[in-house]
Amino acid sequence: MKIKRKKFVITIDGPASSGKSTTAKMLAKKLNCIYIDSGSMYRAVALYLKDNSIDLENENALKEVLYEINIEILYKPEKNENAIFLNGKDVSTKIRNSEITNYSSIIAKKKIIRERMVELQRKMAETQSIIMDGRDIGTVVFPDADFKFFLKASIDERAKRRFLEMKDKSASSETESRFSRVWRMDNISLGKIKKDLKWRDRTDSNREISPLKMANDAIEIDTTNLTIEEQTQKILDILKYEITL
Ligand code: DC
Repeated sequence: MKIKRKKFVITIDGPASSGKSTTAKMLAKKLNCIYIDSGSMYRAVALYLKDNSIDLENENALKEVLYEINIEILYKPEKNENAIFLNGKDVSTKIRNSEITNYSSIIAKKKIIRERMVELQRKMAETQSIIMDGRDIGTVVFPDADFKFFLKASIDERAKRRFLEMKDKSASSETESRFSRVWRMDNISLGKIKKDLKWRDRTDSNREISPLKMANDAIEIDTTNLTIEEQTQKILDILKYEITL
């Protein structure tokens, strides 16, 4: 299956845990193109700034640091997913903990950081077709994208998905001892996840620069009662006249 156009950009925006990245990944597999989860880039920057105790208010330090940070996203066929490398180190797991998750929302408010991310994101689409998901991809990064989607889901459904995802990750982590695994499982609370998600929704939607917003020409899909397969199929149905088998 592929899109008839020679080169295309598909954007998928929406709030945290609305299913964007999983849909982008599945869609990319069906359409034989790459996908980029732009949130992972903000997460990698957050990790670097935290690990190196960089003061977010020090614009000069930030400017310097941003050009020291090398972010690479590589497709791992054996896992059928992307891995993210920060200055040569695979940080795919590290960027998913709740501290970095919340911090990525804070650092994403900074203009200078956003400008650099947008530059990198546009570069990725220069020579290849791409599906990119995030918060401002259809509004700011690729305002002229070929197809734009905006996914949403109820807060309860999103919290449930994140809870199950964390539980799943925690249970399948082979590097953790049984003891720490049990400890972590006990520490995942649905209430806390919901509170964090609401805080992130507010932070991402109310920031001054490139807030989370649906582009005027995006198609909205409510994924509350849909499985990943169903939401991907919904997008494929919308694109059907653009696809050849
Ligand atoms: O999609 P995610 O939850 O992994 O994103 C992590 C944070 O990164 C999110 O809370 C806000 C920020 N982000 C952003 O500001 N713009 C994007 N295009 C993607 C993510």
